[in-house]
Amino acid sequence: MDKSYSEWDFDVVVIGAGGAGLRAAIEASSNGAKVGMISKSMLGKAHTVMAEGGAAAALANKDHRDSWKIHFRDTMKGGKYLSDWRMAKVHAQQAPDRIRELEQWGAVFDRTSEGKTSQRNFGGHTYPRLAHIGDATGLELIRTLQQRGIHTGMEVFMEYTVRHLFKKDGRVVGCFAYNRSDGSLHLFRAKSIVLATGGITRCWEVCSGSWEYTGEGHALAYWTGAEMGDMEFVQFHPTGMIWPPSVKGILVTEGVRGEGGMLTNSEGDRFMFDYVPEMYREEFADTEVESSEWVKEVVAGKLATKRRPPELLTRDVVAKAINSEKAAGRASEHGGAYLDISWRKSEEIKKKLPGMYHQFMELAAVDITKEPMEVGPTAHYVMGGVRVDPITQETSVPGLFAAGEAATGLHGANRLGGNSLSDLITFGKIAGEYAAKSARHVDNFEEIDEQEIDSVITEMLEPLRREDGENPAKVVDDLRVMMQNKVGIIRTRKLLEEALEDLDDLEARGRNTTSPGGRVYNPGWHQALEIAAMIDVSRMCALSALMREESRGGHTRDDFPSPDNAKWGKVNSRIKQVDGKMEIDYTSYPPIPDDLRDLLDSEDLLEEEE
Ligand code: FUM
Repeated sequence: MDKSYSEWDFDVVVIGAGGAGLRAAIEASSNGAKVGMISKSMLGKAHTVMAEGGAAAALANKDHRDSWKIHFRDTMKGGKYLSDWRMAKVHAQQAPDRIRELEQWGAVFDRTSEGKTSQRNFGGHTYPRLAHIGDATGLELIRTLQQRGIHTGMEVFMEYTVRHLFKKDGRVVGCFAYNRSDGSLHLFRAKSIVLATGGITRCWEVCSGSWEYTGEGHALAYWTGAEMGDMEFVQFHPTGMIWPPSVKGILVTEGVRGEGGMLTNSEGDRFMFDYVPEMYREEFADTEVESSEWVKEVVAGKLATKRRPPELLTRDVVAKAINSEKAAGRASEHGGAYLDISWRKSEEIKKKLPGMYHQFMELAAVDITKEPMEVGPTAHYVMGGVRVDPITQETSVPGLFAAGEAATGLHGANRLGGNSLSDLITFGKIAGEYAAKSARHVDNFEEIDEQEIDSVITEMLEPLRREDGENPAKVVDDLRVMMQNKVGIIRTRKLLEEALEDLDDLEARGRNTTSPGGRVYNPGWHQALEIAAMIDVSRMCALSALMREESRGGHTRDDFPSPDNAKWGKVNSRIKQVDGKMEIDYTSYPPIPDDLRDLLDSEDLLEEEE
C-alpha cells in the first residue's frame, strides 16, 4: 500500500472550521501567525449553522435593564452552578463586542424599529438577548467569518480528517490527516494547535448534527493526554422534528418558542405549567396559567420578561417535560408534543422564522402559519469537553488549545440557548490569540518520529486491507441506538452499567471492520476510522453519568431524581487516559469572589449551602 504523504508547516493549525475555528484562525492570523485550517467537511458546513435562533449578548437593545452582570447570572443559574465562573464572566463581558464586530464585518442582523440590532427571548435569559438573523443566525455568522477569514489570510484544507496529534517533550507539535476526496495522506507540523472540532452528538440515534459530528476532537485531545471534563452533561434540545421518520432529529429552533410558540399535549393542555421547577416558581406565582394573551404580551415586549412563558424554561426542563408527557400517555400523534405558533400573523412567521416555515412545508407538508408542528427532544450539544485555562484556552497539554463545543467550562450542567454562538466568537478569538502567542515562543518546527507516523498510517489503512470484517456502518448504527436507549435523557445505574459493557463489545467489533474499495471517497473507510473516537467519547459520557448519583441539568438519573447539592453541587468530573485506561476523578473551580457571588440569586445559593 502507498504510504507516502505530503508535509506542511504552520505556526498555528486550527482543526475545525465552524464558528470557533474560523474566529480562532482570524485572530491567529491577525497576530502574525501562518495559519492552516483543517476542515473535515466543506468549508461552511458546520454545526454552528444549527444555532439558528441567535447569539446571546447583553446589548440591552430591547430592554435597557440588561447588562453583562445579568447575563453572567443567567448563565451560572442555567448551568446549575457548575460553570467555570471565570469563563462565564469573560463571556458575558465580551460577547457584546464580538457581536458588534460581526456587524462591522458585514453580518446583517435583524433590526429594531430604531435601527438597533434586534434581540429575541430565549429560554433562561431574563431579557430578550439573542441577536438574530431570522432563524439563520449561525449561517450568517459562518458566512461573515469565512469572508473575513479568507481576507485575513489562512490556508484551508477541506475534507481533511485528522487522525492523530503528535507530541514532543510533552508539547503538541503536529497532526496527521487524510483527504477524504482523494485518499491522500498529510503530515502537518505546527507550533501550536487549536481544536475547534465541535461536539459528539452523532453518537445518539436522534440528533440535530450531521455526519461530521462524531467527537474526533474530544477523542484526539483525550488520546494525547489532555484532561476532559463534565462529559455526563449532554443537552437534548426539546424541539427536533419527529415526523416523517427520515427527518427525525432535525432542529426546530427555540426561536419558535421565543417568538411565542406554545407547547401542548394530546389532550390540548399547555403542560409546561406543570413542570415549573421550584427555583423558578416565584416567577409564575401571579400568572394566569391558561392565558395565552400573556405570551402575546411578552412577545410584543409589553410585559416584563422575568415572568417568561414556561416554554422558555431552560432546555433540560422542557426536554424532560416532553419526555414525561410521552411516558404518561399524552404524546402527540407520532410520540412528541405539539408546538403552535399559528396565533401569530402569517407574514410575521414567514419573516421571523422563514427557515422553519420552509422546513416544515417541504419536509413534513405542514404549514406552520396554520397548524401546529410536532416536535420531540434531539441530542444537540455536549457541555463536557476538553478542560481549558479560562484566560488562554490552553488545554493541559502545552501548545494545544480548544474552543467552542470541543472545550468545557462555560456551560456547566446545561447550556442556555444562544450562549453557543457567543461562546464560539468569544473564546475562538481568545484561543487564536493565545495560540499565536504560544507559537511565537517556539523557534523551530519539530521533526516527527518516522516510526510514529508509520504506525498511524498502518492503522489507518487496516480496514482497507482486512478481509471478512464487519460492515462499519452496522457497528455505528448499533452504537447510536445503544446510546439513545441507555445513555439518553433518563439514565439509571443498570442502563449505564450495561452501556459500558456494550461499549466494550462495540469496541472489539469496531477493531474488526472491513471497508472494501479504494481510498477515494470511500464512506465505509471513513466510518471505520471514526468508530474508535465514537466509542471513547461515548464511554466518557457513560462513565461520568454512572458516577454522578444525582440529577442536574443535562444529566438525569431516574434512580437519583433530585440534585444533591451537598455532595455534587460544586464538583466537576475530570477524565484522563492513564496507562491506556480511562480514569475519572473530581475537581472544583476556585471559589467565586464575593462581588460576583453577590450577582447570583441568593435563594439558589442558600439551597446550595444546605
Ligand atoms: O434553537 C436554536 O436555535 C439553537 C440555538 C442554540 O443551540 O444555541
